Amino acid sequence: MSNDPVILRADQISRTYPGSVPVHALKPCSLTLQKGTFTAVVGKSGSGKSTLLRILGTLDPSDTGTLTIEGREICRLGDAALSRFRRRRIGFIHQDYDLFPEYTAYENAVFPLHLDSKTEDRKKTEALFEQLGLTDCLNKFPHEMSGGEQQRVAIARALAASPALILADEPTGNLDAANAERVAGILSSLVDTENVTVVMVTHDASLAAAADRVIRISNGVLEA
Ligand SMILES: Nc1ncnc2c1ncn2[C@@H]1O[C@H](COP(=O)(O)OP(=O)(O)O)[C@@H](O)[C@H]1O
Ligand SMILES: [Mg+2]
Repeated sequence: MSNDPVILRADQISRTYPGSVPVHALKPCSLTLQKGTFTAVVGKSGSGKSTLLRILGTLDPSDTGTLTIEGREICRLGDAALSRFRRRRIGFIHQDYDLFPEYTAYENAVFPLHLDSKTEDRKKTEALFEQLGLTDCLNKFPHEMSGGEQQRVAIARALAASPALILADEPTGNLDAANAERVAGILSSLVDTENVTVVMVTHDASLAAAADRVIRISNGVLEA
C-alpha cells in the first residue's frame, strides 16, 4: 500500500446543503491526487472550493460516492478512528484561523500533538516558527498578534504533526505579498523534500501558476 503513488482518490463525491432552496455546492466529481504533488484550486467566491476541501479533509462527509486516503475508505472509519487519522495524517489550514484564545502561539501549534499524547519536538517547532517569521510570537496570545501572524500560527499548527496531506483554504488570504510568498515557499518545499501532498485554494494567480496542477471549479463543477 505504501508503494501506491496515489494518496487520495475521490470517486463521485458531492455535497448539497439542504434548506428551503437546497444548494448544490459540489456536483458529483472524481479526483485523484498523486503523492508529492502541489495542486491549486481556483474559482470564484461561492463556487464550492471550501466545500470540496472540507470533504477531501474529512471534515464534512460527501453525500455520494467514496473517498479513499492512504488506502482507507473514509466512510468506513468510526468517529474515533477518523479523528485520529485526520489528526495524524491531514493538516488542514482553515480560512479563519480559529486559534484558542487562552493558549499562546506555541501552545496552539502543538495542541494537536498533545491530543495524541505525543510530546512535541520543541526545536522543530521553533524552527518552523522561524521559517514562518514568527519567532517573536512564540509566547504571545492570539489577541496580541495581527491577523497575518495568527494565520501563520494556524499554518504552524497544521504542519506540526508532519501530515502527509495538507489542505489549505486560502492560507495566504490575510498575508502581505512577502509573507504569502514565504508560506507558499514552505508548502512547496514540503512537497519537494518530504513528499507531502498539498492542495491549496488561492485567488493569487502567481501562486496558482507555481503549482503542479490547477483545478478550476465553477458553480460546483470541477474542471481539470
Ligand atoms: N453550511 C452551509 N449551508 C448552506 N449553504 C452553504 C454552506 N456552506 C456553503 N454554502 C453554499 O455553498 C456554495 C459553495 O460555498 P463554498 O464551498 O464556501 O464556496 P467557496 O469556498 O468557493 O467560496 C455557496 O453557494 C455557499 O453559499
Ligand atoms: Mg471558501
